[in-house]
Amino acid sequence: MFEHVEAYPGDPILSLMDDFNQDQRSEKVNLSVGFYYDEVGNVPVLDSVKAAKEFLDQQPVEANLYLPMSGDARYCQAVQRHIFGEQSTSVTERIVTVQSVGGSGALRVGADFLKRYYPDAKIYVSQPTWDNHQAIFAGAGFEVLRYPYLNQGKSEIDFAGMLKTFESLAAHSIVLLHACCHNPTGLDLIPAQWDQLFNLFKEKQIIPFLDSAYLGLGDGLEQDAYAIRALAQSGLTGFVSNSFSKVFSLYGERVGSLSVVCESAEIASRVLGQLKATIRMNYSNPPRFGAQLVRTILESEVLYQQWKSEVDVMLKRLLQMRSDLHQAIQQINPKLDVSYLLNQKGMFSFTGLSPEQVEEIREKYGVYLIRNGRVCVAGLNTGNIEVVAKAIANVSH
Ligand code: LMR
Repeated sequence: MFEHVEAYPGDPILSLMDDFNQDQRSEKVNLSVGFYYDEVGNVPVLDSVKAAKEFLDQQPVEANLYLPMSGDARYCQAVQRHIFGEQSTSVTERIVTVQSVGGSGALRVGADFLKRYYPDAKIYVSQPTWDNHQAIFAGAGFEVLRYPYLNQGKSEIDFAGMLKTFESLAAHSIVLLHACCHNPTGLDLIPAQWDQLFNLFKEKQIIPFLDSAYLGLGDGLEQDAYAIRALAQSGLTGFVSNSFSKVFSLYGERVGSLSVVCESAEIASRVLGQLKATIRMNYSNPPRFGAQLVRTILESEVLYQQWKSEVDVMLKRLLQMRSDLHQAIQQINPKLDVSYLLNQKGMFSFTGLSPEQVEEIREKYGVYLIRNGRVCVAGLNTGNIEVVAKAIANVSH
């Protein structure tokens, strides 16, 4: 029956974890999957999360009922306030937010919804982008096309190229953008460019889909949320998917959200209904525990402040690692231009190394990068930075 089932070549990101675990070398370094590691190489359990768990443990035990299809209502409300900031009622009544199974679940529910109402639309993702964007939208039946994101030297955003592509798109095309900390390049638009883009989208009736998994890890929460908040005020209809895996260090709980900014409160309520229907036919309703943890933090002024300072520690460590790696490579080869390490933001850096160089680094040094040359900066620490610097410096000539 299944003779024709082809072998799975593996996922370009997640499967690297298996390869890494099987590598017997003690000096191996994992800079592949986007986990935030602390200075001693552990994925941290945040103190704010521990406190939220203790708080929940003290509450009377509740029956473990299904959540509503759209998830925990208080969680959805708190998340909306967190990512969209303080907005007037005339804006918030136009936004619907549902709980999702991580960021991927939000993307898939959004994709299924869009496919239903715009079956002939095409979706455009940046070249390059996170590999799963392509897979999720293709899985929902979309033709996935690319818009240019990097200039020739791969050191800056090709904003003119992006605009040119968007100007040529048909009405109701969908454009996927990274709200901040672009994965894999670490290069983000500035506020004036977001404004320009949204004006163009309005003119062309393009639907933006902002994906955000790193709010707080670029320039801090307020700055990183600029695009999301500007979208809410732009008058556009658009989508925002959001993951709390990294910033709450809650990878396995799959806590995320999908928000849709609509034209009116009345449309928003119908959109919410159809999002529920989409969720029902996907996985019925989301899990409880991770959302309860995040909601407990977002609802408590004390825990929210504590969490913000913990994210700030992550952000500062990322900046330190960028600067240490830059310095270590410069010491080995002062002629090598690795200024990209300092210019890019967030958890990842895009080295521009070829797949062959990535392979060489893995074989010779046991340092694991994604094939497209992406380094997870959060995997660096003072104990492994020398070997990573040596590996990058020695293959880059
Ligand atoms: C990554 O890009 O490494 C993370 O978002 C993990 C994943 O699911 O790919």
